[in-house]
Amino acid sequence: MSTESVAVEDLTLEDAAAELERLAKEIARNDALYHGKDQPEISDADYDALKRRNDAIEARFPELIREDSPSRRVGAEPSNTFAPVVHSRPMLSLDNTFSQEDVRDFVASVYRFLGRLPDNSIAFTAEPKIDGLSMSIRYENGRLVTGATRGDGTTGENVTANIRTIKEIPNELPKGVPSVVEVRGEVYMAKSDFMALNAQMEAEGKQTYVNPRNTAAGSLRQLDAKVTASRKLRFFAYAWGEMSEMPADTQMGMVETFKSWGFPVNPLMKRLSSVDDILAHYAEIGLERPDLDYDIDGVVYKVDSLELQQRLGFRSRSPRWATAHKFPAEQAFTIVENIDIQVGRTGALTPVARLTPITVGGVVVTNATLHNEDYIRGIGNNGERIREEEHDIRIGDTVIVQRAGDVIPQVLDVVMEKRPAEAKAYEFPKVCPVCGSHAVRERHEKTGKLDSVTRCTGGFICRAQATEHLKHFVSRNAFDIEGLGSKQVDFFFESEDPSLQIRTAPDIFTLERRQQTSLTKLENIDGFGKVSVGKLYAAINERRSIALHRFIYALGIRHVGETTAKLLARTYNSYEAFAAAMKEAETLSGDAWNDLNAIEGIGEVMARAIVEFYKEPRNVEVIGRLLDEVKPQEAEQPVTTGSPVAGKTVVFTGSLEKFTREEAKARAESLGAKVAGSVSKKTDILIAGPGAGSKLDKARELGVQTMDEDEWLALIGG
Ligand code: IVH
Repeated sequence: MSTESVAVEDLTLEDAAAELERLAKEIARNDALYHGKDQPEISDADYDALKRRNDAIEARFPELIREDSPSRRVGAEPSNTFAPVVHSRPMLSLDNTFSQEDVRDFVASVYRFLGRLPDNSIAFTAEPKIDGLSMSIRYENGRLVTGATRGDGTTGENVTANIRTIKEIPNELPKGVPSVVEVRGEVYMAKSDFMALNAQMEAEGKQTYVNPRNTAAGSLRQLDAKVTASRKLRFFAYAWGEMSEMPADTQMGMVETFKSWGFPVNPLMKRLSSVDDILAHYAEIGLERPDLDYDIDGVVYKVDSLELQQRLGFRSRSPRWATAHKFPAEQAFTIVENIDIQVGRTGALTPVARLTPITVGGVVVTNATLHNEDYIRGIGNNGERIREEEHDIRIGDTVIVQRAGDVIPQVLDVVMEKRPAEAKAYEFPKVCPVCGSHAVRERHEKTGKLDSVTRCTGGFICRAQATEHLKHFVSRNAFDIEGLGSKQVDFFFESEDPSLQIRTAPDIFTLERRQQTSLTKLENIDGFGKVSVGKLYAAINERRSIALHRFIYALGIRHVGETTAKLLARTYNSYEAFAAAMKEAETLSGDAWNDLNAIEGIGEVMARAIVEFYKEPRNVEVIGRLLDEVKPQEAEQPVTTGSPVAGKTVVFTGSLEKFTREEAKARAESLGAKVAGSVSKKTDILIAGPGAGSKLDKARELGVQTMDEDEWLALIGG
């Protein structure tokens, strides 16, 4: 019998020790799930029960209290109860570059976008990329009013009280600063402060922290600002949000201004013009890295001129005018203990290496994805060799594991000298390990190429596909239903009780009604409780009205990620219009099909996947039931008050003289226009430069308004 179910009074000394060990691990694991991934597997009540059991055992056997006991962890409970703050300007992330070649490409792309020759005339700043937490600090009339974490980039957490305790951040700005100032930068913990803190923790017999970044994060997310104050946090200013007035017109000028206002800025920031100088500065910062008193993971390059930054603008998540040049990844040796197969939402069978735990760059790695059958054999996505011939990955092999930044760990290579004699080549399963259906590699219709992914053919009958589908549906960027985590989805899916079962998305929304007339009450089931059930229903009901792009994303159509879902929502405006168009596009020809393909950012593979999805009667049936419960809102069009082209569909053709095609497109989109690649009945304006051909003819034929580049510029105001 396992010690888990033995009452505290009945535990022997030996059992108690084993049980404390189990609890320490289990609580730490749930802490990580809760804080790290925001995906708790157990209810708050169950979590509390674990902690209470730990305390009770410790009270009975004080001699057994462990070094890593959960009861010794002070303030390990950052809370999720900070108020949300919507950022006045989104807090974006940066694209990563890993090689000198990538950096050259980045610089070249800046010149290309602006239609300029690469003549070293554009200046860039280069500064360390600090490994901390980005923060937005707002001042009104010179006084600090809000400190907010980045969050998802749109909405962060209000940590003002904690930010005020950071001495390096001024509470007041000098006289004469603009009335609204938002300074952005990185909060971090110095390596020396981190080591001193850990030495103190150790002396007090408390658990030590893993790395400065996590400690800084944990310190900031304390509800009690006194705890934050006791940790020495620091700050570097390097960016800004809303500014009622711009005090400078370059990146460097802005940072110098922040310095004059009392903010710490990084002393290694330099302004450079040639790629060679930029790379030399990267090498220099790399050399200094071990001696710096803070962790950095790369060098950030930014176009210095703010006017050019504005022209370059943004892609969906990151600016075109900046990139992060990461330092090379860190590597370590470990052993492949096993290879497991995970079945995903689309039936993809993904092999995962279970590794002997190893620390790589300060993080413990226990799993690494092996991607697919070919990858295990040493073959890349385009049929190329990625490892030497015999270096296929086998259970028992010693391998080199690499971790670069936030990227998931990779198995780089096999150490052949250490291969055990009995190690056999891994045999990839031919059937789905979950439902037993055939697992096949599809062949590409046109190219005849074998797909790298092995897929379960079980579709809806496969438990893994169905539950993964539901987990995707309730996930953060889809329906975002709090209280329906992975564990709960599995529970509802497996339940045999008709008043509890959730097999498809609409069932989520009928749960409360089914429960009302049922005798098996959810609140009496272990791990739920009255309060959490009430919260769950409230979270579900809150989503009965939902943004269109979230709704489309949640459907889980293959290849349709968030960005595509947003494009579709913006293009079709309402769910009815979208669904009707997809039905009409079923024949892969005609206006609806052409319109879908004309959306910039949607290629044929995606277009096909969407149409195929709507051809499947079961999908249509499930969506029908879902629409009885949920109302997708009309898409929000970008705020473009006063824009004469908002909501218009425009097409550029021929050569443009004042802008590159890319810039013209970005500009039109920022004014709320939709830019399509081909002319159809839906086109409102065709902008034709010299050399325009068939598109111009077609536009004339369809009676679409046409204009040249100058007329277009006059229309959008220069
Ligand atoms: S600039 C719009 N500069 O890196 C660009 N970011 O991967 C705003 N970071 O979220 C960011 N040091 O937390 C910039 N010198 C630096 C940085 C830096 C660290 C972080 C920041 C950002 C992330 C993007």
